[in-house]
Amino acid sequence: MEIVEIGTLPPLGEVPEMMYAQTLRQERFNEPSKAFEIEKVKVPELRDDEVLVAVMAAGLNYNSVWAATGYPMNMIQVMELRKEKETDYQIIGSDCSGIVYKTGKNVTNVSVGDEVVIQAGWFNEEDPAVKKGILPIFAPSARAWGYETTWGSFAQFCKVKHFMCVQKPKHLNWDAAAVYMLSGATVYRMLTKYEPHIVKPGDVVLIWGGAGGLGTMAIQLTKLYGGIPVAVVNSEDKKQYCESLGAMAINRSDYDHWGALSPDMLKPETQEIWRGKAKKFLKKILEMTGGKLPRIVLEHPGEATIPTSIFVCDRGGMVVTCAGTTGYLASFDVRYLWLQLKRLQGSHFADTKECVEFNQLVVDGKIQPVLSNTVAFEELPIALQLMYENLHKGNTAVRIGY
Ligand SMILES: NC(=O)c1ccc[n+]([C@@H]2O[C@H](COP(=O)([O-])OP(=O)(O)OC[C@H]3O[C@@H](n4cnc5c(N)ncnc54)[C@H](OP(=O)(O)O)[C@@H]3O)[C@@H](O)[C@H]2O)c1
Repeated sequence: MEIVEIGTLPPLGEVPEMMYAQTLRQERFNEPSKAFEIEKVKVPELRDDEVLVAVMAAGLNYNSVWAATGYPMNMIQVMELRKEKETDYQIIGSDCSGIVYKTGKNVTNVSVGDEVVIQAGWFNEEDPAVKKGILPIFAPSARAWGYETTWGSFAQFCKVKHFMCVQKPKHLNWDAAAVYMLSGATVYRMLTKYEPHIVKPGDVVLIWGGAGGLGTMAIQLTKLYGGIPVAVVNSEDKKQYCESLGAMAINRSDYDHWGALSPDMLKPETQEIWRGKAKKFLKKILEMTGGKLPRIVLEHPGEATIPTSIFVCDRGGMVVTCAGTTGYLASFDVRYLWLQLKRLQGSHFADTKECVEFNQLVVDGKIQPVLSNTVAFEELPIALQLMYENLHKGNTAVRIGY
């Protein structure tokens, strides 16, 4: 069989020679609406520890914006430098739900026909560090699948390591099952694994971008553990959206102290200007929470918000960050960090065990995917453009196999 059409599947276990994929090529790097092209490409061959999954639906994530624009890293070039480039094009996409169509000869955890969700924590089990017992997220071979690898989810078939397959929650349709894993597992690690800063009943958690991928998961996880989510967003519409998910919400458009600090702003004669504005934001949090500051701040915008994150975090609390979407200059007044014994913690995705733990919360119905939009395969670039322009809410699924 040469190929099947989008929206259909070949008979179970029969793998066509070719597949349709939304590909990236270096000469096309651009804003998402202009970066992709649907190409007919070869279905990848499997190594012994790999699984071929027919993608039913793919989920969109912000890392696809980074990949499509080639900024700040040209990932195709990075793969070449690492001697991991397998083709001239790259198929990105770090979330999906699908059906196992073929397994490598050493794979025992899944079989042809299994319905799975893919978690993006790729690593090489032969990596000497992994063999010595290091947690794979710290291993030199650790990669974000669908961003730093070739065969992601924006195609009819994707190729994954066997341990990246987790059980698809039976109560979810393919679209909902495709949109929760990357954001959910990332936030799960950020809120539950950095002892003693794990969410406890009554803890206020400040969540930047409450209506986005990480934000919608953070609101739910905070509530699940008895915390009080305070979401920050840029519009009244998104504020209401977060409130409908059970958070209190602040519209950041009402404040104007955002961006990196400069030495001039911290001189004794000028420091009150920024501080006064940041205090207005802090007072709003106190007003909403009955006098509590955030014990945990879930950071990812970076440059625009980190001075405020450190400022409003409670004494002895933690600012935990997994990104710098607005820029990488993490400037802050270090006095607020050391004098009040606060912690600044980096975090990156989650390990295999944590993905399984988080998936169980979804399987048990304790966490719900926040699916806001489903689009057709050819609409993928336009849907990703909305994310690039910060015009989306919740999570978008792309239908591929049905
Ligand atoms: N390291 C990891 O493992 C990991 C995992 C997942 C995601 N990430 C990264 O985390 C970031 C967010 O991902 P996501 O999926 O949540 O993206 P998303 O769905 O686009 O949400 C990001 C949110 O950031 C907010 N934002 C944008 N500009 C802002 C600004 N100037 N100030 C404050 N907030 C701003 C927006 O909310 P408002 O405009 O409404 O405030 C937006 O909803 C991305 O950079 C992504 O690559 C990292």
